[in-house]
Amino acid sequence: MPVDLAELTAEIAAAMAGAEDRGQVARYIPELAGVDPAQFGIAIATADGRMFAAGDADTGFSIQSISKVFALTLALGKVGDQLWERVGREPSGNAFNSIVQLEQEHGIPRNPFINAGAIVVSDVNLGGHQPRVAIGEILRFVHYLTGDDSIAIDEAVAASEGATGYRNIALANYMRAFGNVRHSPELVLGLYVHQCAIEMSCRQLALAGRYLMLDGRHPDGGRVVSPGRARRINALMLTCGHYDASGDFAFRVGIPGKSGVGGGILAIVPGRASIAVWSPGLTEAGNSRLGGQALEILARRTGWSIF
Ligand code: DON
Repeated sequence: MPVDLAELTAEIAAAMAGAEDRGQVARYIPELAGVDPAQFGIAIATADGRMFAAGDADTGFSIQSISKVFALTLALGKVGDQLWERVGREPSGNAFNSIVQLEQEHGIPRNPFINAGAIVVSDVNLGGHQPRVAIGEILRFVHYLTGDDSIAIDEAVAASEGATGYRNIALANYMRAFGNVRHSPELVLGLYVHQCAIEMSCRQLALAGRYLMLDGRHPDGGRVVSPGRARRINALMLTCGHYDASGDFAFRVGIPGKSGVGGGILAIVPGRASIAVWSPGLTEAGNSRLGGQALEILARRTGWSIF
């Protein structure tokens, strides 16, 4: 018997409302440190055009590293497979903000989802323009994917990270020394922190991910990316989307997923569903604790693991 997704999302939201160990909210971005951890939202957009949502599914949160999926999609549109000369496609086995492999690997980050890789992607997306032009492009892309022009950047979050993001400043400068960041690190990070500060709800995020469940098609019939590119982005989400906890996420959930330190996760079930979950408390690896648990329950009950 098919699972009733309305019932299941409500059941998951109720279970998460009572959870005791919710993890710690991100503190290294001062503006995120004050977010109330007692929140949980879930939204599922299905391939046949339905939407199921429960909990705080309409509350906006900082998408942070989930923006790396949209930024990667745009960068591949600009330079295609040449991107892979500057960024790898392997899990790093290190924290999302680690610098340790860059020296040994000649300034080429392991993948586009760790911070170093996403900074190279921002360098590509900057394309000689001012950050505001490239930021406008990412926002327009998200508006197109969701059909919702109200999605905006939380300037306070961007400013907060811009003022305190010393690790990212180090990563960008280090890669600049290898020639793998080509614009001024300041401009590249201007773009990067603004894309990370895009605010979306679970419902909006689930809508934005639909092209990745639909073989690269927009639900309106337009083509966002080729089927092969959608497959590859999903593969990277599975292998690298949760940093040094990507193996555990594949083991427990078995669905391509990209997390952000705002507590969101975008998870894609090819051909079936685009799912967004959000709860601000994080695990040690910087991924939403309850978000991961919710996806584990969802995958088990629906049989949506790709394995
Ligand atoms: O660069 C940073 O540290 C943040 N703007 C994004 C990191 C992030 O979301 C890691 N994800 N779980």
